[in-house]
Amino acid sequence: MGTDPGLRSPTVADGRRGYPPAAPYDRIIATCSVRRIPASWLAQTRPGGIIVANLGGDHSSATVRLVVGGDGSAEGRFLPDDAAFIEIEGEEERTRPSIQELADRWIHGEAPVRPARVPEAMEDVQFWFLAQRFLPHVTLFRAEGRPWCLVDHLDLSWARVEESDNGPVVAQGGPQRLWDRLEEADTLWTEGGRPGFERYGLTIDGEGRQRLWLDPPEGPGWDL
Ligand SMILES: C[S@@+](CC[C@H](N)C(=O)[O-])C[C@H]1O[C@@H](n2cnc3c(N)ncnc32)[C@H](O)[C@@H]1O
Repeated sequence: MGTDPGLRSPTVADGRRGYPPAAPYDRIIATCSVRRIPASWLAQTRPGGIIVANLGGDHSSATVRLVVGGDGSAEGRFLPDDAAFIEIEGEEERTRPSIQELADRWIHGEAPVRPARVPEAMEDVQFWFLAQRFLPHVTLFRAEGRPWCLVDHLDLSWARVEESDNGPVVAQGGPQRLWDRLEEADTLWTEGGRPGFERYGLTIDGEGRQRLWLDPPEGPGWDL
């Protein structure tokens, strides 16, 4: 990423490190998605400069426009429009189990069932922007004949929703109750008036803490 002032063609380098030879920058625009803003981008942007980046997770990402403080800090809001890019390469995700290993959890998992609430916005990327804060390591499956399945790729917790004569029921196994977490996200989503991307913001302090928040910066928030 970056164009070396002395070169005619773009320079190829690992974008996670920014590009120190041409820093500082007035603007950094990332055309890939990240889960956190790399410290190198903050350090290489001028005070008052702007970083525009696609930030999110497996199921949803949105574009944040940050104004940089110059001491490693930055703050800004998300833009309202849907925008998704491929995830930046080189992140820690290489050790993930295969999709088949994850699917085996819910295909073969045995657990008692309870009535399940299926969020009305289950297929909405704005709902998943919120839901993935409650389920940061979860892969969502929708397979033929099985409405919804979730598997956590770190601890292999799983949840499987099936239809019954009395409505949907969920079986859940592993250390976490993933469907309980999804229902918590659904409660915040509906009680919070189905927030669009523009209601979120990101605050980065000089110590490397990155906090995604909803509505005011001191509202509900999640450390990234
Ligand atoms: C959506 S494409 C954007 C391509 C181009 N910037 C454009 O606007 O047409 C994302 C690109 O980021 C590259 N990429 C992913 N991770 C990278 C990394 N760590 N360092 C540099 N490039 C990376 C991918 O190879 C891919 O070409």
